[in-house]
Amino acid sequence: MKTYKQIVREYSRYLKEVTHIPQKEVEILILHLVQQNTIWLHLNYDKECSCEKELEKLVKKRATNYPLEYITKRASFYGEVFNVRDGVLIPRPETEILVENAETILKEIKAPKVLEIGVGSGIISVMLAILIPDIEIIAVDINDKALELAKSNAKKHNVEDKITFIKSDLFTNVPDIQFDMVVSNPPYIADDYKLPSNVKYEPSNALFGGNIGDELLKDIILQTKQKEIKYLLCEMGYDQKTPLTNFVKENISSYKSLEFYKDYDKFDRGFTLVFK
Ligand SMILES: C[S@@+](CC[C@H](N)C(=O)[O-])C[C@H]1O[C@@H](n2cnc3c(N)ncnc32)[C@H](O)[C@@H]1O
Repeated sequence: MKTYKQIVREYSRYLKEVTHIPQKEVEILILHLVQQNTIWLHLNYDKECSCEKELEKLVKKRATNYPLEYITKRASFYGEVFNVRDGVLIPRPETEILVENAETILKEIKAPKVLEIGVGSGIISVMLAILIPDIEIIAVDINDKALELAKSNAKKHNVEDKITFIKSDLFTNVPDIQFDMVVSNPPYIADDYKLPSNVKYEPSNALFGGNIGDELLKDIILQTKQKEIKYLLCEMGYDQKTPLTNFVKENISSYKSLEFYKDYDKFDRGFTLVFK
């Protein structure tokens, strides 16, 4: 017989190469299998483990760098739990900054109308719908799996009445509404960039933004201006501040402000562009 404590020790060895918290991850996998919480595990540490066979499979899968969130089908974002599935980008903590920046502006607008381009799992739209009581959101994506998942997250958080999901390539199928803001965390990595192995299981159409990487961002900037939407908030790559600043200066004749922000690791990560 092996206790949970022994099992955690034994299987965490397999995960040393893929995570700096191997023990914690084995615990998470056990809890996923037995559908219990951390307190339960600590109370039962010296009891016999009932799920070694299934755990072994999951640990071996995780040891290939397969994301933990795709196994447990959940991820935390902005203090809330979201459904996650393979084929859709896993939420990243830095996107919380984009949500915060959008919230600050939207709080001052009565019944704001927001368009999200590239909704993915729905974290941005769902969080804004939770934070802003009278908001109306159109959320688009080209990926059916993403739209389905985002809808499930809107339902999970009781905000499905505030968000309309549409399959659309950028603005193509977006209804003709006067929006106050566009938010987007679009794909922004250059097509030839070699991804680290922990990202290789995530969908390439959520990551790669074109030859240079910033093509979709530039498209979104131009189309937001053309549609006379006042605010544009985007996430971007750490090295895109200068090219995007030059692009805005060269292509937008008059705008009110362009401010960049950094992520938690102090890399340039996004901007707020305010049009006149
Ligand atoms: C980096 S992910 C962001 C997902 C989510 N908003 C988040 O922050 O976690 C980019 C998303 O944009 C979608 N996408 C890519 N190209 C698009 C396009 N041309 N039009 C609309 N959505 C697009 C992808 O399918 C993906 O879900």
